[in-house]
Amino acid sequence: MNSKELRTKYCEFYKTKNHAIIASAPLIPENDPTVLFTTAGMHPLVPYLMGSPHPAGKRLVNSQKCIRTGDIDEVGDDWHCTFFEMLGNWSLGDYFKTEAITWTHEFLTKVLPFKPEQLACTVFEGEGDIPFDETSYNAWLKLGIPKERIFKLGRKDNFWGPVGGAGPCGPDSETFFITRDHCTLKNPDCSPACSCGRYVEICNNVFMEFEKKKDGGFVKLPKPNVDFGMGLLRVCSILSGSKSVYESDIYGPAMSYLNEVGPKLSTKDKRIIADHVMAAMFAIGDGASPSNVGSGYIIRRILRRAFRLANQGGLEPHYIDHLVDRFNQVYQGHYSEVTQGRNKIIGIIRDEEEKFSKALGQGLKHLEKELAKFDSSTKVIDGKLAFFMFETYGFPLEVTEEIAAERGLTVDKAAFDVAFEEHQNKSRTAGEKLFKGGLADTSEESTKLHTATHLLHEALRRILGPHVEQKGSNITPERLRFDFSHPDKMTAEQIKQVEDLVNEQIKRNLDIKLEDMTLDDAKARGAIGLFEDKYGARINVYFMGDFSKEVCGGPHVRNTSELISFKIQKEEASSRGVRRIKAIVGKS
Ligand code: ALA
Repeated sequence: MNSKELRTKYCEFYKTKNHAIIASAPLIPENDPTVLFTTAGMHPLVPYLMGSPHPAGKRLVNSQKCIRTGDIDEVGDDWHCTFFEMLGNWSLGDYFKTEAITWTHEFLTKVLPFKPEQLACTVFEGEGDIPFDETSYNAWLKLGIPKERIFKLGRKDNFWGPVGGAGPCGPDSETFFITRDHCTLKNPDCSPACSCGRYVEICNNVFMEFEKKKDGGFVKLPKPNVDFGMGLLRVCSILSGSKSVYESDIYGPAMSYLNEVGPKLSTKDKRIIADHVMAAMFAIGDGASPSNVGSGYIIRRILRRAFRLANQGGLEPHYIDHLVDRFNQVYQGHYSEVTQGRNKIIGIIRDEEEKFSKALGQGLKHLEKELAKFDSSTKVIDGKLAFFMFETYGFPLEVTEEIAAERGLTVDKAAFDVAFEEHQNKSRTAGEKLFKGGLADTSEESTKLHTATHLLHEALRRILGPHVEQKGSNITPERLRFDFSHPDKMTAEQIKQVEDLVNEQIKRNLDIKLEDMTLDDAKARGAIGLFEDKYGARINVYFMGDFSKEVCGGPHVRNTSELISFKIQKEEASSRGVRRIKAIVGKS
């Protein structure tokens, strides 16, 4: 089964269980400063897991793009990647444990060809105030999974979330594929928690009943939810008998290309190059670009690590174009942001490659000179040197570590982290002033500003022309910030016209209505916004009277009159060809 078939079968199966298929959200969370990337399918759904009604209903399903950097050191083994697609389904206060587990089992064994005897699972054994999950245990037993293969584990293994430190979370029940009948580490207590690789996790049902507060306490959510996640590539690889995700159809063309042009590279290095270029491709496709802070730094870090490996393997820079093209071959028709964004993505990666190759020579020289000063008893490089390499030559920690390892040295990572954390804190403090809204901020003020953003977008198109497209949006309870394509500085006259047009819509008391429809219908009806070609997905379009129609996940106010008034505070350049407007609402 290839990845396309699995994606389709999964969404179709849950559709038969009355789930609405929703589109993948972008990889860079909007208006959420607490995490750098979307790390799980549930992440864009946080407001709905906390109780806001979702426009598509109480049962949802999709395939969500995710980036996780926690496992970055393991990338290149058989199962770890930084970028992956997560198949997910959700019950928003609707069905709960027994139905969720029964459908998971049905999907794995009736739609997919897993044999029940190849599966093991875990349930929460109870810890602290949260009791043993007897319902899940009994559900698995009833489905024929014997006691010996239902493992009871504690908080460390069977409690999921929240992302970013606060938010919805709960005990979970994971399902594993059994790869062999014994533990290679001879662990007498071998279980899915053992690191021997006997049990490979294929999916997870999280029973989100709690909200973790910022102060660390837990409160019950108004309604319990189910958050299910399954790694598309992992399952695809297991089903096709591959020993690694890097042998799957998604990586196949890229890996064959690297085998051809990089005979000197190790298998692990080829996998790292492929994974890191793919992650950067998707992140850039969603608007990120390499920089020294936040998600930009992660992109820089993974790209530069890939560049150095490629450089050592003697690859010419056009390997980047080839890899992007090989990935696009498999994502054709599914992720238009990367297929249509091909040239932009390659341009940004190549640009970063050039910057790094300039710094690489000089940086290596400096590092070698410093390393030569060490006497033979030194085994650990000072973290400050590693940080200096980052600050001065743009060497990510991994690159310095890898160079050190070639000389039998390690880096004092903790000291690097301290210096790096300080650097990031400085940038974050600057960032937080802008992003006070916080995670899933659905405050009244932010909601009004979100509605104002739609009116502004449409007004800009009417005054400046239809070339205006959204390039970014950030909303805090204090103000909206909207980036859009336009070549010139707006004149005072244009700014006034846009303001007047928005204020006119506020005065017209326009009702705001939501309709969900197919992509084709939305296009046919002239809706603007970010369209993504998603298999079978229905999308939400917000109508503001007859003035604006825009694809969006909400939330919005009910009538434009709630905004009272609209004022542009600033119009400035954001980047080449992109202008930025900051505006406020609510002053009568
Ligand atoms: N959110 C859950 C996970 O990522 C499903 O495992």
